[in-house]
Amino acid sequence: MRILVTGACGYKGTVLVPKLLSSGHEVIAIDTMWFGNYLKPHKNLTVEQVDVRDSDKIRLDRVDAIIHLSSIANDPCGDLDPKLNPSPNITRRRWWPSGCY
Ligand SMILES: NC(=O)c1ccc[n+]([C@@H]2O[C@H](COP(=O)([O-])OP(=O)(O)OC[C@H]3O[C@@H](n4cnc5c(N)ncnc54)[C@H](O)[C@@H]3O)[C@@H](O)[C@H]2O)c1
Repeated sequence: MRILVTGACGYKGTVLVPKLLSSGHEVIAIDTMWFGNYLKPHKNLTVEQVDVRDSDKIRLDRVDAIIHLSSIANDPCGDLDPKLNPSPNITRRRWWPSGCY
C-alpha cells in the first residue's frame, strides 16, 4: 500500500514508519519537523516538510491509507496556544479523500 503518515517525524511516527517500510509499504511522511527528522532514508520513503493544515500542499495521488499522527501531543504544549491546539488534530477531516482509511 501507499500510506501517507502525518506527524511521521514525531515519537510515534519514528517507530511506525520503519515498520511500515519493512512490511513492504510505500510511505509518504509529512511533518512540520518541529522536533527534527530522525527517519532514515529508504527507497520507498518520501519525507516532506509540510504543515497538515496546508491541504493544497499535500499530494494525495494514489494514496491508499492515511495514518494521522500530527498533533500537539501533550498538555504543556497545548497550553502554550489553546486555539492552535485542536487545529492540526481536526483539520484532517477537511482533506481526507473518501475511500482512504
Ligand atoms: N506518545 C504516546 O505515548 C502516545 C500515546 C497515545 C496516543 N498518542 C497520540 O499519537 C499521536 C502522536 O503522538 P507523538 O507522541 O508521536 O507526538 P509527537 O509530538 O512526538 O509528534 C507529533 C508530530 O506532529 C508534528 N506536527 C504537529 N503539528 C503539525 C502540523 N500542523 N502539520 C504537520 N505536522 C505537525 C510535530 O512536528 C511532531 O513531529 C498524538 O495524537 C498523540 O496524542 C501518543
